[in-house]
Amino acid sequence: MESYLIIFGMKTIQLFSVGLLFLAGMASCTQKQQGSNAHVEEKINALLSQMTLEEKIGQMNQLSFNGNVEEMIPFIKAGKTGSLFNVVDPVQANALQRVAVEESRLGIPLLMGRDVIHGFKTVMPIPLGQAATFDPQVVEEGARVAAIEASSTGVRWTFAPMIDIARDPRWGRIAESCGEDTYLTSVLGAAMVKGFQGDSLNQPTSMAACPKHFAGYGAAEGGKDYNSTFIPERRLRNVYLPPFEAAAKAGAATYMTSFNDNDGVPSTGNIFLLRQVLRDEWGFDGFVVTDWASAFEMVSHGFAADRKEAAMKAVNAGVDMEMVSGTFLEALPELVKEGKVKEAVLDEAVRNILRIKFRLGLFDRPYTDESLQVMYAPEHLATAKRAATESAILLKNEDDVLPLGASVKTVAVVGPMADAPHDQLGTWAFDGEKERTVTPLQAIRESMDGKVQVLYEPALVCSRDKNRQGIPRAVSAALRADVVLAFVGEESILSGEAHSLADLNLQGAQRELIAALAQTGKPLVTVVMAGRPLTIGDEVEQSSAVLYMFHPGTMGGPALADLLWGKAVPSGKTPVTFPKMVGQIPVYYSHNNTGRPAGRTEILLDDIPLEAGQTSLGCTSYYLDAGFEPLFPFGYGLSYTTFRYSEPKLSATELKSGDVLTVTFDLENTGRYEGTEIAQLYVQDKVGSVTRPVKELKRFTRVSLKPGEKKTVTFELPMEELAFWNIDMKRVVEPGDFNLWVAPDSQSGTPVAFKVVE
Ligand code: BGC
Repeated sequence: MESYLIIFGMKTIQLFSVGLLFLAGMASCTQKQQGSNAHVEEKINALLSQMTLEEKIGQMNQLSFNGNVEEMIPFIKAGKTGSLFNVVDPVQANALQRVAVEESRLGIPLLMGRDVIHGFKTVMPIPLGQAATFDPQVVEEGARVAAIEASSTGVRWTFAPMIDIARDPRWGRIAESCGEDTYLTSVLGAAMVKGFQGDSLNQPTSMAACPKHFAGYGAAEGGKDYNSTFIPERRLRNVYLPPFEAAAKAGAATYMTSFNDNDGVPSTGNIFLLRQVLRDEWGFDGFVVTDWASAFEMVSHGFAADRKEAAMKAVNAGVDMEMVSGTFLEALPELVKEGKVKEAVLDEAVRNILRIKFRLGLFDRPYTDESLQVMYAPEHLATAKRAATESAILLKNEDDVLPLGASVKTVAVVGPMADAPHDQLGTWAFDGEKERTVTPLQAIRESMDGKVQVLYEPALVCSRDKNRQGIPRAVSAALRADVVLAFVGEESILSGEAHSLADLNLQGAQRELIAALAQTGKPLVTVVMAGRPLTIGDEVEQSSAVLYMFHPGTMGGPALADLLWGKAVPSGKTPVTFPKMVGQIPVYYSHNNTGRPAGRTEILLDDIPLEAGQTSLGCTSYYLDAGFEPLFPFGYGLSYTTFRYSEPKLSATELKSGDVLTVTFDLENTGRYEGTEIAQLYVQDKVGSVTRPVKELKRFTRVSLKPGEKKTVTFELPMEELAFWNIDMKRVVEPGDFNLWVAPDSQSGTPVAFKVVE
């Protein structure tokens, strides 16, 4: 439990303890672990007292498996590694584990890790797509499926969830994130931790989670991967750290440091993050691993002179295990001898690592059952399909062109993403198999067999294909069809790590393809599958309907077929703002107000008279060529049906610390289809000791309604959740005036006022 201060003016008059409501349920997980602590600590200490310095350092070293069991054996026998990653064959995993358990001096089991980011064999939508569901339940189930499949091969540790706040779609790794919002990422990140770790780490199907990248990596300057970040402490604490704190409260077993240096300090050598925040403030008792070679990379950063200094800085800062760069193994014996790293610091690191190995039950059950057959279980595919279905965002639906009805007898299926089984899996899906992936083309052919004629003309070989020769064939197919379904977007390799882009338009000749199809005058349904929001303003304008799907995984095709023909109704909402053009970035809904906020008259480039004298124009903060609005705001998404929100009723308009505000409103389905609406609650703290965001998401819920049905929806918001890091760098609720919106997205709704009083 944490202490929160409520500050009135400059005077602190009340102290109370709270846990964020949405995390309340997670306390039990942490408590369970604490219950077993004394017993485990005794075992750890008994083991530690028998360990040589070399064996301790060995536990702190992680190696990447190169596929050759024989080559690994001497390292394992000598106790020179505590963890292996990239072992995904259960027979090899058991062979390697047997050496650790039966042939190393102390028999300490290995912990096998793997990047299981959005599924193992059954691939879920990329995390950005999962975030578009605003559905913690399906996100948790997806992580559970991943854990069941991966753990059957001996993998008991995943390097996920990635909960970096990502507000720059140029950054390729936005694909692996839950998008731009702190609260949404906190809720979904915690759900992923729960899904990976299950009810107890001790279950054979549980994997230790590893929230990453700690911290600030998503703020890479210019959206260029690995770039420096400059996040001041207040912003770090208000925006970037809360998802990591939520993950700690959900019981996350490990953390990974990030590649970036923030304000000059690489995370792998950041004492403030690793000791003060993670250990002292959050009470984390698991272990911290570096990112791939990020200890050694402190040399390139110019933060350490050589490998030895890098090892010293990492360990002293609070890193427990080094991923692959081997500087610990090499330099720690000497550093300890020289007194530059205290053996007590190493002991603490080893304790942290052994603690997680004990919690995972590895000492009792080091081997995996090689006979397990769990991959692609029907219920796993069902979860993947549900997640993909819920992740689809309907951005436009002119004249209700969707869903397609019985009058549609012939469809032209075109575009490079219509049948791209590898690419629809998305980035960083190492174990997914394209042979098991169902594409939109396959799913449409199968589900509409005998009912609809499918004319397939991909036009382009891949999303980067610049060759326009196939476009006329696609146009000809379009002319023969009742409706055109154009599948465009990005190949999976265009997003993810090290794949940042400066141009977010559709690549290759895809823009020409859409323009040519639009020219036919046929209803044009554009489906975009991508790893990030793309600048698709022109294509939205040219299309009758647009469905946006971040790479949807194994079951993307069946999900799309259902959505296009109305067996399912889109419900996803944008988890990140869609810019009109790259120059608008960073563009995110919860920005602070300037002294001259945009929103009044917007004078654009063409409105300026010739030889106009120098003026301040509209005197507000916007671009002359892009205005101030994004293409689509955060939280936006349509449905085949329509919803009506009543005005929200507040349980009180004056609240005190400790109070819970109850917000009630009616939500009615006013359209013709059964559908699900994601209702969102935003708050604005109007005046603060520091400037505050214009809006912040505080609650959301998915509400399913039949045509004509009306439900009363209630949100409960404890006043503690209005706390933020203020001018004195204290987490406080400052009394004063607030606005509240209940709305279908971050840009709509009418504010209702309330106050927090002394
Ligand atoms: C990535 C991490 C990943 C690690 C291991 C690094 O390049 O930044 O997210 O877990 O590699 O594959």
